[in-house]
Amino acid sequence: MRRKIVAGNWKMNGSRDLAKSLVGSVRSGISDLDNGAEVVIIPPALYVRDVVELAGASVSVGVQNVGQWLSGAYTGEISAGMARDMGCEFALVGHSERRQLFGETDESVAAKVEHLLSSGLTAVVCVGETLAERESGKAESVVAAQVRSGLAKVGHDRWQQVVVAYEPVWAIGTGKTATAGDAQAMHGWIRNQLAELGAPAEDVSLLYGGSVKADNAAALFAEPDIDGGLIGGASLKAEDFVSICRAVPASI
Ligand code: 13P
Repeated sequence: MRRKIVAGNWKMNGSRDLAKSLVGSVRSGISDLDNGAEVVIIPPALYVRDVVELAGASVSVGVQNVGQWLSGAYTGEISAGMARDMGCEFALVGHSERRQLFGETDESVAAKVEHLLSSGLTAVVCVGETLAERESGKAESVVAAQVRSGLAKVGHDRWQQVVVAYEPVWAIGTGKTATAGDAQAMHGWIRNQLAELGAPAEDVSLLYGGSVKADNAAALFAEPDIDGGLIGGASLKAEDFVSICRAVPASI
């Protein structure tokens, strides 16, 4: 079964007070949500405990990153098992900001995915091309390589814990969203890559991210291969995030 998911990636924003008030407002805002969407909040790791305590059953919680090792002398890192221990059900992997600013590679993405799946979390694996890659006609090949290497080690019984988020780098935080048609085309391409990897491709959820707002979410989510969204800036305003959660059509 393909999951419908709207996840808010707060990145390194906010404060403890904001985290608590945002999760409270989201929780009450989606109390009557009936489109079947799973709502996920991905706060800075230090606020996970507060968010888990206040989230209730209708909001799941995730971390923005985990280390690529199980445990040990890795100062500053947190493990997949620790995230699970604190009540997280999701983790982002390979966000473009981590690839560009923190040296995340396809190999470290693959290692993290392996640990997340064996710890029982859902891995939201982020892929996407830069503007230069798109303009030089390489968007498909770049995304295919990220999908294939990041998911190379997924066992046949673990695909229900895998979500792929397509986030074109040029659309993140820029206000420039991919058109629904362009996003759909890339999602279809990603589904083909998954099928070639041996995944039950029709059952894997594919999220779109990159300047998703309350006023463009419905058009994106109406596409047949877009199963929800990964939301940055708009997830920091409860009202906007709740509107985006409501934009998921009940039928996908
Ligand atoms: P924006 O929604 O702010 O463009 O961020 C998208 C993103 O990077 C979510 O992970």
